[in-house]
Amino acid sequence: MRIEFDERNLMADMAGKEHGLTAAELRSGAPLAKKALTGFHKSWQKGLYGFPDLPTQAETIAELKKYARSVEGDFDTICVAGIGGSALGAWAIDCALRGPHPVQKAFSRKNPRLVILDNVDPSFIMGALQTMDPKRTLIVPIAKSGATAETVATLLILTQWMEHSLGKKARNHFAVVTSAGRGDLKQLATAKKYPTFHLPENVGGRFSVLSAVGLLPAALTGVDIDKLCAGAAAITKLSWLDDLKKNVALRSALCHHLIATKRAKPIQVAFPYSNRLWGTAFWFRQLWAESLGKRTDRAGNVIHAGQTPVAALGATDQHSQVQLYMEGPNDKVFTFWAVRNQPDSGAIPKTPTGFEAMDYLCGQTLAKLLDAERRATEAALIENGRPNCTVTLDRADEEHLGAFFQMMEFQTAFAGEMLNINAFDQEGVELGKKFTFGLMGRKGFGDYKARFAAYETKRRTVKPA
Ligand code: PA5
Repeated sequence: MRIEFDERNLMADMAGKEHGLTAAELRSGAPLAKKALTGFHKSWQKGLYGFPDLPTQAETIAELKKYARSVEGDFDTICVAGIGGSALGAWAIDCALRGPHPVQKAFSRKNPRLVILDNVDPSFIMGALQTMDPKRTLIVPIAKSGATAETVATLLILTQWMEHSLGKKARNHFAVVTSAGRGDLKQLATAKKYPTFHLPENVGGRFSVLSAVGLLPAALTGVDIDKLCAGAAAITKLSWLDDLKKNVALRSALCHHLIATKRAKPIQVAFPYSNRLWGTAFWFRQLWAESLGKRTDRAGNVIHAGQTPVAALGATDQHSQVQLYMEGPNDKVFTFWAVRNQPDSGAIPKTPTGFEAMDYLCGQTLAKLLDAERRATEAALIENGRPNCTVTLDRADEEHLGAFFQMMEFQTAFAGEMLNINAFDQEGVELGKKFTFGLMGRKGFGDYKARFAAYETKRRTVKPA
């Protein structure tokens, strides 16, 4: 397993002094990196954060595999109801390892598909129900809190749909992932005797892909979760090393911290040149945004920290976004994600057509074209003084994906330490949630209903131009 981080195009020698980092700046960042490593290591030792331990949770992994084996061949659809950190990891795994949607193999009981219901758009949910047969569907509600409105509402609809069709047998069509000791989903699962899997309390949603949250859907759809965890375990060892050469997560965290704060790059474009990694780009977007977007530092100073992550797909978005990236505001850093070895190189037929715009491609491969497009875009950005870096995965297989998840999570934790913020909470999402509860009549949220009413009254006084 090999994951490389190449920061050369972040350097002033390549991107120019105004937008690139000097070697001296990188060297002088070493103590900050060391402090971040020590700080996060101490918090981990105190048991505050559990994601580093997930790849070696042998008992949980064995339990998940056992359950997946016990239902093998029973279902052609695994339907996850979850949102945010309780959905994006499952999608990232499915997209990377079973093929980017919509080019997966036909689904069957031998090759169940994964349907992820992560929004309450009625046309999405009701439309999905019409494509599923309750007799061949396993419903997997996933919610750490057990109370997320979107997930719970979807689950209620799915439950009625399943029970209406299967009556008492519906019980065998549910498997739940939630916290062990709290939440209404846990209580419901206990009451209904659904098989239930837990995620550790010290693992937050967006850091939970290698817990039952991501591994149960993966195991149920035939992914080798041992290999995912083996890759992640290998990078975990490297991520504790006080050696910027070997510790890729720490080095990339430092580079991103320096370029964002010293060269004013409030936006990071995650730019996979791989459809398989497209789901992972969305998973990363949540990880980086929710972890680093914070109003205050740990001392309570208002700092409004955070870099806005943007997902772009190479080469597709060269024809959609790159004009802006080249000539628009120089406020972005680009992280290209490359896959060195593709399972199929995509041979382009050798026979010439007689047309100039086509014949130079004959006898070459799609893999070579995609690689050339990435390298060309990197070079073009550099000619325009736009700093960029590249993460290269040897392959997009289980081991590399597991390692990549873990590397990104460590990178995020270290970046949080460098900003001196709490990267593991998400207070900013609470107010909107509370207003929604107020609007939907949840008990105990009357104050928020009133606050919302005051907001609407004020809005009505504003005269649009
Ligand atoms: O990272 C997080 O903690 C959040 O994005 C959660 O994953 C998301 O809000 C869903 O929460 P829950 O799993 O409780 O439904």
